[in-house]
Amino acid sequence: MKLLMLGGGVFLGRALAREALSKGWELTCLTRGHQKPGPVEGVAWVQGDRHRAEDLRPLASQDWDAIVDTCAYRPADLEAALDLLGERCGAYLLVSTISVYQEPMSPRGTEESPLLPPVDPHAELAEHYGALKAMCEDMVQEELEDRALVVRPGLIVGPEDPSERFAWWVRELDACAREGRSPRWPDAGQQPVQWLDVRDLASFCLHVLEEGAEGAVHVAGPDPALPLMEVWQRMAACLAPGLDPIVQSAEQWRKAGIRPWSECPLWLPEHSHNTFDLDTRSARDAGWIQRSLEETTLDTLAWVREAAPAGRGQGLSQLAARLDSCGS
Ligand SMILES: NC(=O)c1ccc[n+]([C@@H]2O[C@H](COP(=O)([O-])OP(=O)(O)OC[C@H]3O[C@@H](n4cnc5c(N)ncnc54)[C@H](OP(=O)(O)O)[C@@H]3O)[C@@H](O)[C@H]2O)c1
Repeated sequence: MKLLMLGGGVFLGRALAREALSKGWELTCLTRGHQKPGPVEGVAWVQGDRHRAEDLRPLASQDWDAIVDTCAYRPADLEAALDLLGERCGAYLLVSTISVYQEPMSPRGTEESPLLPPVDPHAELAEHYGALKAMCEDMVQEELEDRALVVRPGLIVGPEDPSERFAWWVRELDACAREGRSPRWPDAGQQPVQWLDVRDLASFCLHVLEEGAEGAVHVAGPDPALPLMEVWQRMAACLAPGLDPIVQSAEQWRKAGIRPWSECPLWLPEHSHNTFDLDTRSARDAGWIQRSLEETTLDTLAWVREAAPAGRGQGLSQLAARLDSCGS
């Protein structure tokens, strides 16, 4: 396969690149060279900006079996690519997100669940991420019809994740083990959670491309979803064995000013519970396989120890400070 990736210099893009190279595919990645670490060794790297027609034109002089687009966040990101490369590719895989669904979702949501309505294409990305992604999906599907393939990941975790939503807990539990301190978490009740290892997502994306799939599919994680409390227990058993966890009331954490999700990764606000308990039949039928939570946890730990600079992620340093005010 001759593959072009728009993106490829961070997290998912790098996992996709490694997977493509391991299959012996010929891979070219287009990035501007701003973000580190950048494309993996072994790919053909073209430095350029996807918004600039002059940067895309050299890529439009050849045919591609497939294009994988990891970095389209709003319709304007797609204009030049579809215009210049749309006719030159056998398939176009857009990496979208489960944030395209309207919340609160019905239980066991499928790909047919209602999507967010369109917004001003120049709307603030942080606030309208899901709606803008849904607009990107529409654009790719309208333009490329049965050559369009939309993959909607849920929470992507694993090595090299710059958001550290999962890695924060890995760091915290590892610190507990080193310091002999009991891990703490809030009582999340029956809150479900689904997650996917970035390497399994990469493998799935290339598999569905090989199979010539079309349409939209979400890839969410274990199905049925696991209770978050069980996930924390299993991660603690893996990283901090022998230390009895302390479960504190959710109220206590809220009083300490710790908000679910944005300040306490994996802990979800009530209105998002169904979004992390999706029906994943379509993905499983299409070949989705997920490695164990323990493998993802240990490999994330190895990355955290070896390569990750401490203290990155979304407001997590505040959480560490506020945890102390929760008492034990
Ligand atoms: N993380 C999650 O849990 C999650 C969940 C659901 C969906 N997703 C989706 O998964 C994808 C994540 O992909 P990713 O991890 O590879 O990160 P990404 O942030 O989407 O892609 C970043 C890559 O794209 C390149 N890039 C950005 N703007 C560019 C431009 N104008 N021209 C050329 N290259 C450009 C960047 O390099 P330069 O800056 O150097 O150009 C970098 O290599 C996203 O589409 C996201 O919406 C993520």
